[in-house]
Amino acid sequence: MKNYRRSWKDAVFSAVESMAAKKGLDTGIDPDLVVMETPPRPDLGDMAVPLFPFAKLFKSPPAKIGEELRAELEPFAARRGGELVPAGPYLNIRLLRPGVAGDILRSAAAQGDSYGRGDALAGRKIMVEFSSPNTNKPLHLGHLRNDALGESVARILRAAGAEVRTVNLINDRGVHICKSMLAYRELGGGRTPEDEKLKSDHFVGKYYVLYNEMEKKDPTAEERARELLRRWELGDPEVKALWEKMNRWAIEGIKDTYARTGIHFDRFYFESQVYLKGREEVLEGLARGIFTRDADGSIWVDLTHQGLDRKVLLRSDGTSLYLTQDIGTAISRHGDWPFDRHLYVVASEQNYHFAVLFHVLRLLGHEWAANLHHLSYGMVNLPEGKMKSREGTVVDADDLLQDLAEMAAEEIRTKERESEVGDVAETAEKIALGAVHYYLLQSAPSKDMVFNPRESLSFTGNTGPYLQYTGARISSMMRKREGMPELRERAFRPELLQGEEEWALVKLIGDFPETVEQAALSYNPSFLTAFLYETAKTFSRWYHDNPILHNRDQDLSAARVELSRGVLQVLKNGMDLLNIPFLENM
Ligand code: ARG
Repeated sequence: MKNYRRSWKDAVFSAVESMAAKKGLDTGIDPDLVVMETPPRPDLGDMAVPLFPFAKLFKSPPAKIGEELRAELEPFAARRGGELVPAGPYLNIRLLRPGVAGDILRSAAAQGDSYGRGDALAGRKIMVEFSSPNTNKPLHLGHLRNDALGESVARILRAAGAEVRTVNLINDRGVHICKSMLAYRELGGGRTPEDEKLKSDHFVGKYYVLYNEMEKKDPTAEERARELLRRWELGDPEVKALWEKMNRWAIEGIKDTYARTGIHFDRFYFESQVYLKGREEVLEGLARGIFTRDADGSIWVDLTHQGLDRKVLLRSDGTSLYLTQDIGTAISRHGDWPFDRHLYVVASEQNYHFAVLFHVLRLLGHEWAANLHHLSYGMVNLPEGKMKSREGTVVDADDLLQDLAEMAAEEIRTKERESEVGDVAETAEKIALGAVHYYLLQSAPSKDMVFNPRESLSFTGNTGPYLQYTGARISSMMRKREGMPELRERAFRPELLQGEEEWALVKLIGDFPETVEQAALSYNPSFLTAFLYETAKTFSRWYHDNPILHNRDQDLSAARVELSRGVLQVLKNGMDLLNIPFLENM
């Protein structure tokens, strides 16, 4: 079923079309001319259609257009329960509350966990690449933002009807990987993560930090790392074995973090397996005269006409670059699964890289390169300042989650809610995830942000735990209702929902599907965080002032229960799209 706003919008569009036909205007009408606004005061109505665009189109005054549009829309309004009030340059629409409330709440209840799903992107194949770590160190706070964004965007796109495939590019090759290998070889003494009781990716990361200390004292270290890379490229068995061992440690540890955070990938790509394909593509481009070779043998692309630079694609010694690899990866992926769109969730530091990559692919003649999109996101720092990976001052993802979970457990104990929540550790972990994911998604992706751990955990305010808490409160109320047979048997009478806040909640529930669609089309989960916060806040205010289960009029209680059920469903479904765990108790 279409949501109410959408069905009205479509009806207005058909009405305008038929007005045009009557006036003998045979050019097609642009659907974007129909805009549904919200009137400045609720007593004016629930929606307002600005008439100026049609006045211009039909060359007659808005007041006249308003009258004509009203007449045209009348049959629909009568069927769907709406009053049409022309008001100067607007046609206001006042919904007849009981009918609309009944429709919205019944359809939310009937659709249950699929309420909010739509078909705006039906039939589209969208590949979403995210996370894409390097195997020389564990995930950090920046990856948590990346993962939150990638996972949530993938879920939202699916909810909007798209077929989505999530992929991860493991950058497991190159000189930076050889750096932690070098430090381990020279300083590790054959020890294993078990020996040092370290999570295996943290173990690898420790050697990356050690390498950087070593390099400060010993300038030849870098050359030794390059030598390792050359031997790796030649397939030296000893170097390959070391590489395999350390990569396994890094990747296993990283995968544990994905499991912990509820992140899923349909497929992993490994740079070590695709970089040769990139090289072939570059050589072929050279043969076709698209690229040029310098005197030293290096191969270049000239993008100065596109407002970019000249960029090297293969070094003079024939070794590949990050860019070379990405050329091969993109082509392989399109071959594996011909997508309609491919999103790369990668930090804004790489804006230039992706601009170059997309141009190069277009120069190579791949038309689908027009459908590649860099979903660029800003930096994330802690209140105490900037992260620097070489100096080891990076905020580690696992450590941060651990701290948050401990803080949440502490909060449960201070509030003496151990018996309510049941398993304290498990609940605390879910609160921690809800806190990080919400906080990281609540900023628009492109913005830099500061992650404030304390603030993210607050049970009140604009946070994930606040949504979890509101959901838990409604759930507990629903359980109580189960034990009230008298109430359970009452029929739902939507006309009893008369308060302004009740109507506001009904409309929020009704707006949920469109909010999901908006988040999907803009690749921006922050529309959803803001919407859920608004819903939870409106609910809390209402709940604070109005008894739900215990009214003298049991029919009123039953109607309020149905409204609460709708709010609960929206919170649940919305939180799932944001990868915020739902809690029955909190
Ligand atoms: N591993 C890279 C980094 O840590 C990010 C990879 C992004 N994806 C890509 N297809 N280039 O900076």
